[in-house]
Amino acid sequence: MSKLIRIENISQHIGQEVTIQGWLYARTGKGKLQFLQVRDGTGIVQAVMFKPNLPTDVFEQAKGLTQESSIIVTGRVKADQRAPGVPGGYEIGVTYLDTVQTAEEYPITPKEHGVEFLMDNRHLWLRSKKQWALLRIRATVMSAIREWLDSNGYLEMTTPILTPAAGEGTTTLFEVDYFGQPVYLAQTGQLYNEANIYAFGKVYCFGPTFRAEKSKTRRHLTEFWMVEPEIAYCDLEQLMEIEEQFISYIVRAVLDKRAEELRVLERDTHALEQVIPPFPRISYDEALDRLMVIRKQTNNPELKESLAMEWGMDFGSPHETELTKQFDKPVFVYGFPTACKAFYMEPWPGRPEVCKSVDLLAPEGYGEITGGSERISDPNLLLERIHHDQLPEEAFRWYIDLRRYGSVPHSGFGLGVERTVGWIAGVHHIRETEPFPRTLGRVYP
Ligand code: 4AD
Ligand code: MG
Repeated sequence: MSKLIRIENISQHIGQEVTIQGWLYARTGKGKLQFLQVRDGTGIVQAVMFKPNLPTDVFEQAKGLTQESSIIVTGRVKADQRAPGVPGGYEIGVTYLDTVQTAEEYPITPKEHGVEFLMDNRHLWLRSKKQWALLRIRATVMSAIREWLDSNGYLEMTTPILTPAAGEGTTTLFEVDYFGQPVYLAQTGQLYNEANIYAFGKVYCFGPTFRAEKSKTRRHLTEFWMVEPEIAYCDLEQLMEIEEQFISYIVRAVLDKRAEELRVLERDTHALEQVIPPFPRISYDEALDRLMVIRKQTNNPELKESLAMEWGMDFGSPHETELTKQFDKPVFVYGFPTACKAFYMEPWPGRPEVCKSVDLLAPEGYGEITGGSERISDPNLLLERIHHDQLPEEAFRWYIDLRRYGSVPHSGFGLGVERTVGWIAGVHHIRETEPFPRTLGRVYP
């Protein structure tokens, strides 16, 4: 009797007869031989059909198999260093083949396709090797996030998706009709977690987040996943220490568990091996100085133009990209101008125009992957900031309340899953890091 296995475990079955339930990824053949690339969702293996070893009808059946036909393959596992596949180095000498369905002509062929065509066929594109590898890495990033937080004393809290007010600025709100009342899809769970820390100390929320981003960049989605840890009795310095431990753990988990997938993506893993604490920390002021030096020295007029900025403005993608090129690890930029950040951030002592905020920029040009801060703990100051930003005081009454009953310094950050996966996997556009991404121009499929 053959044993039903999954391709990712094939190394444990050398010499055994096994069965794989999967799909035909590709096929070539000549004379007495047929080579089937079979995938089963966990990997790809080459199944070799040798005519003299098989019943005639089984061999002939293989010749009619189309790409993506569902098949059940039985055969003996052989180690062969040259065999292609994921994991590479294994081959199956077929003894039996069963066709479940012969697929219709498949729209995605090994030839080049335009990205719009591929996005229209995202439901099928997911099966392609590169997309498969990317989304396996995404799943590992998500489980590593939970592993680290759960084993370091953070309690997972769920926060609402339907919210009465803006958490991160009023320009990117998605409005929903709530029985005649306007409510908004959550931009962040942070404000609720600030309530949760007073009950549980250290918490996190992890879920989908919505921003009506009008920007069409390779870093912006309208729906993305964010994990947001929040910690009582924690200042900005301690927050950076937490972040660098957390990020390093996630990168290590991908290096350890997804080596094959990184190989499929041709990712330079040397760059990822550098991601160990401590990460460099520079102030906004220093970052701005560095950017102005780059701007002054460059002979590229487009770069000069794109780096134009003054103190007080937030960094855009070009600024972040240039900054990260100066470091081989993620770099913290802290102390942004208050004017370019959310209302809830604690002012810098003695410099109220600056806030205790910190962004973490991923290397190799990837840019911001986390945003965080120390939060205002004084109720009067918070109220002042709410008025200053013309936010509806009534909707924030509960939030101000938190500062009235045992207020403490506290901090937290949000990590965007898609940007993190994009960086770790080394892909240019974050739309490929979600199974079904939502962007300014797309909600199909
Ligand atoms: O910097 P942001 O806006 O921070 C917050 O939302 C805070 N409330 C987090 C906190 O302190 N608890 O977003 C945090 C991260 C960004 O660094 C980025 O990785 C990701 O969320 N992000 C996006 N990812 C994809 N598409 C978008 N439109 C994103 N906007 C933010
Ligand atoms: Mg940010």
